[in-house]
Amino acid sequence: MSQQEKPDFLQPLPYSLHPTPNTLHPSKRKLLVVEDDSSIATQMKWALAQDYDVLLAEDRNSAMEVVKTQQPSVVTLDLGLPPRPGEVEEGFLALGEMLSQDSLIKVIVITGQGEKGHALKAIGEGAYDFFCKPIQIDELKVVLSRAFYVSQLEHEHRELQKRMSPDAFEGMLGTSPKMQEVFSEIRKVATTDIPVLVLGESGTGKELVAHAIHQRSSRKDRPFVVINCSAIPESLLESELFGHEKGAFTGAHIQRKGRFETAQGGTLFLDEIGELSLALQVKLLRFLQEQKIERIGGREEIFVDARVLAASNRDLKQSVQEGRFREDLYYRLGVVTISLPPLREREGDGLLLATILLQRYADENKRKITGFTPQAIRAIEAYHWPGNIRELENRIKRAVIMAEGAKLTPPDLELVAPYAKYEGGGLREAREALEKDLIERALAKNKGNMTKAAEELGISRPTLYELMEKLGIGKNKMPR
Ligand SMILES: Nc1ncnc2c1ncn2[C@@H]1O[C@H](COP(=O)(O)OP(=O)(O)OP(=O)(O)O)[C@@H](O)[C@H]1O
Ligand SMILES: [Mg+2]
Repeated sequence: MSQQEKPDFLQPLPYSLHPTPNTLHPSKRKLLVVEDDSSIATQMKWALAQDYDVLLAEDRNSAMEVVKTQQPSVVTLDLGLPPRPGEVEEGFLALGEMLSQDSLIKVIVITGQGEKGHALKAIGEGAYDFFCKPIQIDELKVVLSRAFYVSQLEHEHRELQKRMSPDAFEGMLGTSPKMQEVFSEIRKVATTDIPVLVLGESGTGKELVAHAIHQRSSRKDRPFVVINCSAIPESLLESELFGHEKGAFTGAHIQRKGRFETAQGGTLFLDEIGELSLALQVKLLRFLQEQKIERIGGREEIFVDARVLAASNRDLKQSVQEGRFREDLYYRLGVVTISLPPLREREGDGLLLATILLQRYADENKRKITGFTPQAIRAIEAYHWPGNIRELENRIKRAVIMAEGAKLTPPDLELVAPYAKYEGGGLREAREALEKDLIERALAKNKGNMTKAAEELGISRPTLYELMEKLGIGKNKMPR
């Protein structure tokens, strides 16, 4: 663009641009103008400064410096740069470097008239768009605005992908410090062969942890064999685990290998280990000590190279004290113990998981549900999740199918916020509502016996009468 052809920036645009707020870059959006002609650069800056934070660079090196340090989303790039502004090599080099620095950067190439060939080549090399001089600022503004819009969408998409994909840890999501600690424990033990005992409430992800350990070990291309000790009847479990020879017992028509042998070279995960009978505990202990098993009815010892992982949702130490679990086995298995925190103790993870599961199930069921209402968010955070992540999965799965609005509400999740009924009024109303609740409950529990109810509430009988009158609790409300 020559200096005479001033951009027509004063003309208002006849149409509106996408006024999408840039949520990823809340400050003014950054535009880099790479232009060696300082007067053109200044004019562009002046024309665009209202909408963008305009950064200037006059050659490839300074442009790259800005790309690295300021991370502009969009660049306008004059292909003719010093030291040879009449040629386009420097421009192409700059384009390549910018894209390898930031694959999402939107580069709009500016070429002279009659240089469409260069422009098309630039597009072929990854430029977002091109523009021929002389620059019409209004047109450029439209192109820029679209470029920023696309850039924002791509960034959001990438962000989402990051969260959706097992970016977490082997399919386990969790940003809370407690889960980060678990991930680091898994990393440490994965590469060894020592047994690991995974403890945690139901639904906290014990099986996922076992699988993560396997995946991160050198055994990952060998079998990961899961056996749920509580799901197989005691009478079949021994043969299931250790196998049997032909004729070992009635019905044993053929020889059969057990799960230990199937896990050869890999990992054997014994879920619900606390349910294992004492007899089988002895056999397991022997395997842990000698790495050898015997099939039922067999005479030879079979060497098995399998790493053992075990899980339990009950307190194994207590089982030891009650004589239901061998102490020596407990210490063998629990050389390393990984304790999974319940969901309610993982700060922020509930909401993270809820959001990602919602997106997943909404996609699967082709339902346009975009998120949670603020009340639902509060309910998710306040609820104590006794069934942990499995419960969260189930509630969201159900809600996605049943919900009528675009955002899930506490009733959709069957989670009515514990304080919902006390909200909306002042402290006095809340106090009275709570008093009323407690008195009604005490009366119901004590089958209408005023003396007992008063005693339980820690007040005198006359005070209870007084309160009932004040709060409008009728005697007819009391069950007899
Ligand atoms: N951190 C996590 N991120 C994503 N999904 C998870 C996470 N933890 C658990 N899940 C999911 O929750 C469900 C329950 O996990 P898993 O079966 O591993 O738990 P568990 O502790 O073995 O439960 P149970 O005691 O009921 O056997 C699975 O569907 C699993 O994919
Ligand atoms: Mg399990």
